[in-house]
Amino acid sequence: MDDTILWLHGFPLSSDVFEPQRAIGGVTHVAPDLPGFGGTRPRGEMTMDGYARFALEQLDARGVAQAYVAGLSMGGYVAFSLVRLAPERVRGLILLDTRETADTEEGRRGRFEMIENVRARGMQPVADAMLPKMLTADAPRSMQNAVRDIMMSSSPEGAIAALQAMAARPDSSSLLPALTIPVLVVVGDEDPITPPADAERMARATRNGTLVRVAGAAHLANYEQAAEVNRAISGFLAACSGSAP
Ligand code: MLT
Repeated sequence: MDDTILWLHGFPLSSDVFEPQRAIGGVTHVAPDLPGFGGTRPRGEMTMDGYARFALEQLDARGVAQAYVAGLSMGGYVAFSLVRLAPERVRGLILLDTRETADTEEGRRGRFEMIENVRARGMQPVADAMLPKMLTADAPRSMQNAVRDIMMSSSPEGAIAALQAMAARPDSSSLLPALTIPVLVVVGDEDPITPPADAERMARATRNGTLVRVAGAAHLANYEQAAEVNRAISGFLAACSGSAP
């Protein structure tokens, strides 16, 4: 049976953000929409552990015992929970534009302001604020529009639940040095949300982590520079399985 990659999307995105990664061959892709995103129903209050349990249910439903877990930003926070809850289910970790630390007080205040904005005006202010951070100014208009559409497909209730869950998430710093599985860390050179310094710190904290910095990309490096990110992931998978890429 092929290896499986479980793709966990970021906020306020959906599994559509991994569409370019479907070109990675020789693996089965499992890319769920987390509850409240991509047109799916929210499930009320959430935590990172709650999203991780939801993700594990997706693997169970497909009979997948173990998978590579690829987490993009908030999806990385979920991936850390998943590793804590069920380490035996994780064959390797792919951390895409994310960080292991919890929110600062200032970060939490920003989340609560955003919650008030979503309550008052829906997803529009979030999409407006986040689009210039997701992609560089050089990204084609069609790509900008596609990412805006993905963000606008999030439900306000789902986004509020995710903002609360992100504000409450624990620090996962102590997890990284303890990992014995292979780890790939990928970051857009121009990511203003989880900048390269975060990725460098995470890779350094692991025993055998590989860091790939992607030029010409902001927060959604996997989307804006898909060919390069796919090459890095294919090389990582090949190295993990002991075969040439
Ligand atoms: C994301 O892309 O998932 C979010 O920007 C992460 C965050 O706000 O911490």
